[in-house]
Amino acid sequence: MKTIFSGIQPSGIPTIGNYIGAMKQFKMLQENYDCFFCIVDEHAITVPQDRLKLRKQILQLASLYIAVGLDPKQATIFIQSEVPAHAEAAWIVQCNTAIGELERMTQFKDKSQKNGKTSVSAGLLTYPPLMVADIILYNSDLVPVGEDQKQHLELTRDFVERFNTRYGTASQPILTLPEVKIPKKDAGGRIMSLQEPTKKMSKSDSNTKGFISMLDEPNVIRKKIRSAVTDSSGKIEYDPENKPGISNLLVIYSAMTEEPIEEIATKYADSSYAEFKNDLAEVVVAVLEPIQARYEELLVSEELQDILDEGAEKAQFVANKTLRKMRNAVGLGRKPRRK
Ligand code: TYM
Repeated sequence: MKTIFSGIQPSGIPTIGNYIGAMKQFKMLQENYDCFFCIVDEHAITVPQDRLKLRKQILQLASLYIAVGLDPKQATIFIQSEVPAHAEAAWIVQCNTAIGELERMTQFKDKSQKNGKTSVSAGLLTYPPLMVADIILYNSDLVPVGEDQKQHLELTRDFVERFNTRYGTASQPILTLPEVKIPKKDAGGRIMSLQEPTKKMSKSDSNTKGFISMLDEPNVIRKKIRSAVTDSSGKIEYDPENKPGISNLLVIYSAMTEEPIEEIATKYADSSYAEFKNDLAEVVVAVLEPIQARYEELLVSEELQDILDEGAEKAQFVANKTLRKMRNAVGLGRKPRRK
């Protein structure tokens, strides 16, 4: 069975962008792959976090993983910082990565330009090597992510090839070269902000009207969709270049119902934006309501704690094995003793 790894940062409550771009894919893939789904809390601290809020968000994300239908019997669900191999492997990755490669990352450029290089953490620069470590430790064949992670996955592939050339042999590569799996744009690889539809929907957006959180109450969802920015033409059609707002809403509708965009556009050809938005709100509420109900039960349960304990143990076992190979390849420590 091939292996999948993916992760989500507990830096806020996941949005429907995270759901459509990532979680929904996870659920579909878990039956046919050996899956590792991670709550990447070490990534979250690259920017300042309130410690109690972070703790809470870690469990909230874990609950949501299960509530959307990830099955702990099929997939290993765990918290990154509970598997110390991630931080250790990330160091080896950093020592085999050029600063220039990291400074070229769009996410780093955006964030460091916004805040100035003196006030962003070094962790923000070395964040992609930690992501590389996450992926390689599980010998991942496939990484399902949204489009914004594409560049980090390219860096991962470059790293694996370089590491294998430097330390392995052509017939015996040390690390597995992963493939990336991104939904197409019209299938939700990049859900846009409801307020600025040329910008990605993000859980850390300071304008909360720009995103729908997976835990938003039905009335909040309705209100946010009603006030989503569209255009003045009033015609419901998919044209992301010229009509990014309504096109984004069509993508969300399609991802939530699995109906093709063209069929939805035809169905609503004679409807107003207001009518379409009302229906879309009900579609989103219908998907999120049962998830929220299950989430509430899980959050306070012993079951969740057990799942995370077991997940950490299973993940440690696999990760430590790869880490030993990496340590050995670069010559760290002593030669393993045979007992
Ligand atoms: P994060 O927490 O920003 O997002 C989690 C996942 O959701 C996807 N996503 C979106 N998809 C569609 N539309 C959007 N608006 C949208 N916003 C987010 C992201 O692409 C991602 O798949 N660095 C990663 C977490 C990570 C990771 C990894 C992922 C750490 N290590 C190893 C894969 C493999 C991140 O910040 O995701």
